[in-house]
Amino acid sequence: MGKKIIGILGSPLTEGNTAQLFERALKGAEDAGCDVEKIVVVNLDFQACQEMMFCREHETCGIDDDMQAMYQKIRETDGLIIATPVMTMGIPGKLKSFIDRFQVFFMAKYMRKKSLITEEKKKNRRGLFICISGMNVPEVFIGAKLTINAFLDIIDCRYSDELLINDMDRIRDIQTQPDLLETAYKKGYELGKSLSS
Ligand SMILES: Cc1cc2nc3c(=O)[nH]c(=O)nc-3n(C[C@H](O)[C@H](O)[C@H](O)COP(=O)(O)O)c2cc1C
Repeated sequence: MGKKIIGILGSPLTEGNTAQLFERALKGAEDAGCDVEKIVVVNLDFQACQEMMFCREHETCGIDDDMQAMYQKIRETDGLIIATPVMTMGIPGKLKSFIDRFQVFFMAKYMRKKSLITEEKKKNRRGLFICISGMNVPEVFIGAKLTINAFLDIIDCRYSDELLINDMDRIRDIQTQPDLLETAYKKGYELGKSLSS
């Protein structure tokens, strides 16, 4: 059986520019022999974290919604591909709420000192981050990168590669940039290969 890669799409547009880069990266991972599964965050039904602190003592969240199934998926995956546009110098609100609900993993790792990820899994878990922005300013990816780095740390997954594309409001259609789509494919492929080696 191939290694497992979960793709997380943060854009509300499931056929937008981010989504097209995401699909190419997932195809690359699949061609590298991985089993790929997509999570489209906008299609999930869940609440933002309510600070119930149920996860202080339990390996899950006290809110019974679509996030419950996400915890097991993220525990089991070998790799992640996260793709999102920049919104208000950070990431889209629903993706941020999705990540906040991983407080379950934070509590386990940093409070109870018992990560939910097995030692064996931890060794080679890695993630590719794909992010696009409308503007072309130097600091545009800082907020998004900080959040994704924190998320990957919480779930014991190394931030191993990134594809950051700015100036999308000028470029408009990613199909006019086949080299960038090819780069997304290659990065997905390399991630897939690196998990098997
Ligand atoms: C609500 C909202 C906020 C945005 N905020 C920013 C921003 O702060 N900086 C930036 O560079 N682009 C910003 N953008 C532009 C998007 O990053 C850009 O349009 C991107 O190409 C959208 O990708 P998508 O079509 O794949 O979702 C924003 C777009 C929206 C809809």
